[in-house]
Amino acid sequence: MNELPVRSFLFALGRAGERIAQHGRDDQSARDALGALAEASGVLTSRDPEVVLTVSDGALYLGTRMLSHTSLEFNGLVADLRSRGIDSITLTRDPHPDDLADLASVAAGVSADLPVGGTVRLNERPLAGADMDPVPVSGMRRTYRASLETLRGLGDGNRLEMGKVIGIVEGFVGSSPAASLMMATIRNHDETTYYHSVNVSLLALTMGGGMGLGPDELRHLAAGALLHDLGRVLLDEAALTKAGGLTNEEWAQVRLHPQEGAQAILAATGPGVEVAAAIALEHHARMDGEGYPALRGREMHPFSRIVAVADAYDAITSPRPHRPARTPLEAMRILREGSGTAYDAGVVTSFLQLMGEFPPGSMLRLGTGALVMVTGREEGGPASGLVVRDPDGRKLPEPERVRFGGEQVLGHVLPDEAGIDPMELIDAVES
Ligand SMILES: [Fe+2]
Repeated sequence: MNELPVRSFLFALGRAGERIAQHGRDDQSARDALGALAEASGVLTSRDPEVVLTVSDGALYLGTRMLSHTSLEFNGLVADLRSRGIDSITLTRDPHPDDLADLASVAAGVSADLPVGGTVRLNERPLAGADMDPVPVSGMRRTYRASLETLRGLGDGNRLEMGKVIGIVEGFVGSSPAASLMMATIRNHDETTYYHSVNVSLLALTMGGGMGLGPDELRHLAAGALLHDLGRVLLDEAALTKAGGLTNEEWAQVRLHPQEGAQAILAATGPGVEVAAAIALEHHARMDGEGYPALRGREMHPFSRIVAVADAYDAITSPRPHRPARTPLEAMRILREGSGTAYDAGVVTSFLQLMGEFPPGSMLRLGTGALVMVTGREEGGPASGLVVRDPDGRKLPEPERVRFGGEQVLGHVLPDEAGIDPMELIDAVES
């Protein structure tokens, strides 16, 4: 089932709540966000006279069906709804704009409850556990979610315990490189420091595995990579992503995040603290001594070199307020250009080898016109993928498996341009 309408609704709901909390309901930016929320609600309710979203046990349900991707992606918002006492949201078809504005206010904690009897109602039909029809969450997705939750907890002031972080990333250690790269490469529209951190951890882990690191080293590398932007996590996310850019003072604050992250890590106890602190401190340093903070003659830790490349790759392929996302191919070109100056040449070489010509998780257009998501490649053999749109541009009900050689590829496509939700494809890959 397509979870996109629910995701668009939740994205718009979170955005509208933020704008209302920051600027008040009558501000133009809040009104724009509410307009987008009304549109998303219209799409979500277009098929049924009434739609019920329920939060149970940290997961989100549409009717009785668990939305595993959406629960994962919006786990922050889902936790916020729960903490505000919201167990379910009932939307009638094309809900009234005033009711949607009330809902966004409640979701943002600006007001406490909704009036009864409107077109949007809260906690009207919370489902019992027995009604639920859960979809099992795969081990990797569970780990991905647990990692996001850990970071979110740290952002909310939880104490850092390295032992716990290492226990969580354990779920990633031992997963196949193709699956890890795919999980890290798939993109969604709700990008935050949390997602970025988990992706960097997956990428660094896969790179470390490819470079022959042992299991203990991999655990420390993955944990350090997960925490590399802890200094940013501790900064206010809203301030980092606000429209209109940052002031000089805010920039200065952002540039301090390596030191602040390292300090916070050093204050923790447990295995791998020093390595994680080195990674946090050095991930924006460059091999030529530029970058921040200055290395002052110090050698960059080998793990910091790995994380710097993983960090850059994920940042380049993510959308930013001032520019769209770039394809994995472009990211690899940028890394190659910075090899030896910005980045460690050996690390870049092994990363490019690992990603290959067609990194798992990227979208390609074949000569036939079909659109394919790469799932892997056999040693020296053809790449494999899933056909997500046929040559006529039609979306296939069930993605078909395909093998292809480089000569069949016309070019790389961004998932957004393809109108495909790559998260949905993970299920097809796993099955
Ligand atoms: Fe950073």
